[in-house]
Amino acid sequence: MAKDTTGRLRVTVKSAGRLKLSSKLWLERQLNDPYVAQAKRDGLRSRAAYKLIEIDDKYHFLKPGISVVDLGAAPGGWSQIAAKRVGAADGRGKVVAIDLLEMPEIVGVDFAQLDFLHAEAPARLLAMIGGKVDVVLSDMAANTTGHRKTDQLRIVGLVEDAAAFACDVLKPGGTFVAKVFQSGADATLVTQLKRDFVTVKHVKPASSRKDSSERYVLAMGFRGIAAATPEDEPVALS
Ligand SMILES: C[S@@+](CC[C@H](N)C(=O)[O-])C[C@H]1O[C@@H](n2cnc3c(N)ncnc32)[C@H](O)[C@@H]1O
Repeated sequence: MAKDTTGRLRVTVKSAGRLKLSSKLWLERQLNDPYVAQAKRDGLRSRAAYKLIEIDDKYHFLKPGISVVDLGAAPGGWSQIAAKRVGAADGRGKVVAIDLLEMPEIVGVDFAQLDFLHAEAPARLLAMIGGKVDVVLSDMAANTTGHRKTDQLRIVGLVEDAAAFACDVLKPGGTFVAKVFQSGADATLVTQLKRDFVTVKHVKPASSRKDSSERYVLAMGFRGIAAATPEDEPVALS
């Protein structure tokens, strides 16, 4: 077995041509990923869970008793962490989650298989939430088509819709965390978030793969709907 650059033993997959190269590379990456192994040991459904753990360990927005919406939740790592930190399993906080895909039950998490972009999704989510929430999380990643421009528009569109939804449902002081990609195309989004939230920053947790352009936008201290400036008025940037 070969060693990687950190001296760890590296597993290579010999598929004798039975696997496509992309599948072989994916399998090798999974087998050699320390976060995948750690997630298995910790009983977490995804390595993605560590990204939320890292962000919340630093910024402390998942507090006992609060309500959280998790958009793009499957297979459930973020929901597991949110449910644990707010105390949803003990009936204290509340976690509402949706995904295009099915998600096996998590105690304390109210889940619906739903396309966030479907016209009826916001109303269904509002009914599940039953009031304003403290935190909106979005780890949604749009399926890619391979056409760069189309993919870029889809990615940006998804996060912009998530941000608009967050502004509709968050309590004043609330937090919005969303996956974005490092393309510079989210400048408009950041401008809007800076208008509606007290602090806005980009974070790249150590558990987010170094070779990925993925990062997260973290907006804290929602100013409340009344504070939002009409779209055509100039916005002062901090
Ligand atoms: C990276 S995964 C989320 C991983 C999750 N945070 C975890 O910890 O297990 C992204 C998810 O976003 C979902 N997704 C993408 N577009 C969506 C949409 N329009 N509506 C709902 N879910 C969507 C995908 O189905 C996928 O399960």
